[in-house]
Amino acid sequence: MSEQAERKQRILSGIQPTGTFTLGNYIGAVRNWSRLQEDFECLYMVADLHSLTVRQEPAELRRKSREAAAMLLAAGIDPAVSLLFVQSHVPAHAQLSWVLSCNTQFGELSRMTQFKDKSAKHADNVNAGLFTYPDLMAADILIYNADLVPVGVDQKQHLELARNVAQRFNNLYSPTFHLPEPYFGSTGAKIMSLQEPEKKMSKSDTNANSFILMTDDADTILRKCKRAVTDSDGVVRAGEDKPGVTNLMSIYSSLTGKSFETIEKEFEGQGYGAFKEAVAGSIIDAFRPIQAEYARILADKAYLDGVLRDGAAAASRMADRMLAKVYKKVGLLQL
Ligand code: TYM
Repeated sequence: MSEQAERKQRILSGIQPTGTFTLGNYIGAVRNWSRLQEDFECLYMVADLHSLTVRQEPAELRRKSREAAAMLLAAGIDPAVSLLFVQSHVPAHAQLSWVLSCNTQFGELSRMTQFKDKSAKHADNVNAGLFTYPDLMAADILIYNADLVPVGVDQKQHLELARNVAQRFNNLYSPTFHLPEPYFGSTGAKIMSLQEPEKKMSKSDTNANSFILMTDDADTILRKCKRAVTDSDGVVRAGEDKPGVTNLMSIYSSLTGKSFETIEKEFEGQGYGAFKEAVAGSIIDAFRPIQAEYARILADKAYLDGVLRDGAAAASRMADRMLAKVYKKVGLLQL
């Protein structure tokens, strides 16, 4: 068998270390990451450079980056199988991103809905990094020739941009990059806010009742679920007219594996009280073992830093090879 045929498909994904991960991050992305390790060659990173697009408190960003890595390990990323690293520890990402940004049009970046949303939200700091952010994300992916990128649906547009830039580069210079495909989990690719179910659940939301954090204790999870916005008809059923209930059903379904039909039957005639308690229970059960592991790993800084150091060294070897290839193709002098 040729080397190409034997090679497992490669996966890359990243998560920003700003704030503790939410239930949305977990169901939409992180949970799938550990499941994919068996069948794919996986690279996962803490996207600290991306976080600089919004103002950060330096000491806190450093702390959050370690916490993010510890949470990924606690959620099942196995460093014996996959590479785990911090984005800024592999300088080639930022270097490739410059070349890609010189092959991306202003108009393309202006159309990114996340840019529009974030510039409205941080009107006092619409910086150039926020604008070229999708090129850095494209570099993260293309530098490893990743085949699949497991993300929540909010990242779909960025993935499309990465593909377009890759294709353009390949046409201009010669085949260089694989065109990566997004990989969405079956349910829960978009978990919504518990308070405004038309909006995605986000750790940057100002209302703490709108999200559940992976570090929330059982009482907090129960309280937030009980306060979740539903509707007045009292029937557990999914539908466009019932965004709050549908969101809770998606959470419950993705954590228990039960279908919407089964859930509707389970809570028939029971109202929302029992349903919300069951949803909370499913989250508490999912997070309990992860939280214990998280505390243990975070306390072992030497282990954690060792994992990140090894991950960055191995990732850099791969990334540097691709960067050298790209630099050569675009005509940068190599001595
Ligand atoms: P970030 O840090 O905002 O989110 C990390 C992952 O969590 C998913 N996600 C959700 N999924 C479902 N429901 C939600 N409410 C929800 N909120 C977040 C996101 O889709 C994402 O998969 N730019 C990326 C990080 C990144 C990256 C990359 C991802 C940097 N480079 C390369 C893939 C490949 C981001 O800000 O994700």
